Amino acid sequence: MPDTAEFAVMPPPVLLLGQTLSFAASPFETPIESAVRHLTHGGVLIRDGKIAAVGDGAELRAAHPEAQVVDYRDQLICAGFVDAHVHYPQTGIIASWGKRLIDWLNSYTFPEEMRFKDRAYADEIAKTYLDLTARHGVTTMASYGTIHPESVEAFFSEAQRRGQRVVAGKTCMDRNAPEGLRDTPQSAYDDSKALIERWHGVERISYAITPRFSPTSTPEQLEALGALWAAHPDCLMQTHLSEQTDEIAWVRELFPEARDYLDTYEQFGLLGARGLYGHAIHLEPREKDRLREVGAGLIHCPTSNTFIGSGLFDLKGLMAQGQKIGLASDTGGGSSFSMLRTMATAYEVAQLRHHPLHAAELMWLATQGSAQTLHMADQIGNLAAGMEADLVVLNLASTPEIAQRSARAEDLWEALFPTIMMGDDRAIAATWIGGRLT
Ligand code: GUN
Ligand code: ZN
Repeated sequence: MPDTAEFAVMPPPVLLLGQTLSFAASPFETPIESAVRHLTHGGVLIRDGKIAAVGDGAELRAAHPEAQVVDYRDQLICAGFVDAHVHYPQTGIIASWGKRLIDWLNSYTFPEEMRFKDRAYADEIAKTYLDLTARHGVTTMASYGTIHPESVEAFFSEAQRRGQRVVAGKTCMDRNAPEGLRDTPQSAYDDSKALIERWHGVERISYAITPRFSPTSTPEQLEALGALWAAHPDCLMQTHLSEQTDEIAWVRELFPEARDYLDTYEQFGLLGARGLYGHAIHLEPREKDRLREVGAGLIHCPTSNTFIGSGLFDLKGLMAQGQKIGLASDTGGGSSFSMLRTMATAYEVAQLRHHPLHAAELMWLATQGSAQTLHMADQIGNLAAGMEADLVVLNLASTPEIAQRSARAEDLWEALFPTIMMGDDRAIAATWIGGRLT
């Protein structure tokens, strides 16, 4: 008998037609006309979960008559959104009223995170979170778990079932957190290591070593996690940095020997190119210099920074210095799951600093910029041959309010900007993850 593999039928490729938007370079570094490739009648050919080609729609159709065609007409096909800092366990407490950071953590976050000891609850919220984010065109995210390894097992298992590229890690805290939400330096090390061995590099899953922030870790725990990162340097490391001024004052009390907040990580081996530093609003000159020297990722969380009243991230100044910057919702400190809403708030925060961000810059931050901070820009965050087929299709006339504005548009940017500023899940015509329509 012949080997049945010889007769295995390859599924046909899929050809998406519509307007397409790709980046040849960063619009922060290159004039927008050369940084962006926009095709009004474009096509994206998908084969085996990857983008096989991006080009003229009619030409791709003629060259691939076997392809299944999905015609999105004048809707805009872009890379799926990459949310570089979220707490999926905070899904259920998003939009909780009226507190500042430390009070918000104690009042809402910690009681909710306690519930993730229960694997069934973690499974339920992981599923809810990934359903919600797919509806918003978010195809990859870097999430915190809770201190419970079960919370990460639940998240990775659900992402694996969906074939989704995700990053997550067990949150580590051994002080200044309630009973039941504290680990130890040793258990944080051991549990994180076991999760790395079980999950890191499995299909599209990556592990991030996750000390929550220096107020909730003893020096001994930070040292243990620094040693773990040194032993697994291909993992990411995610934490919070200089989000609120009273938090910074507390860090100064807790670490009197440290030169600044960043130093509480740096002295324990927790500063590096694969480090993701959420918020990074109130930075000292030394901190900025060190972050840039090592090529660390600064994660801008604009809806969270306004919702919790943290401050105005200096995107323009930090970009001008050559920092690597990603964009994030910071669910549930952030008030939305939507990267459109996140871009809109990034625009408004930059306006308050007298810097009007261009629509191309906002789209780049929500895709390539975030992907670069995750060291995944070769795989996700752009429409280009060889990239993984994680895509979002935007309807640029999703509500009457937006439609009447975009109808007057004279170019792509004028057509897209109303959707960035006023759009929500109704603007997400389709989300493709790993070459499959969700
Ligand atoms: N700092 C430490 N933990 C958190 C958190 O869960 N959310 C935000 N916004 N900041 C933090
Ligand atoms: Zn956070």
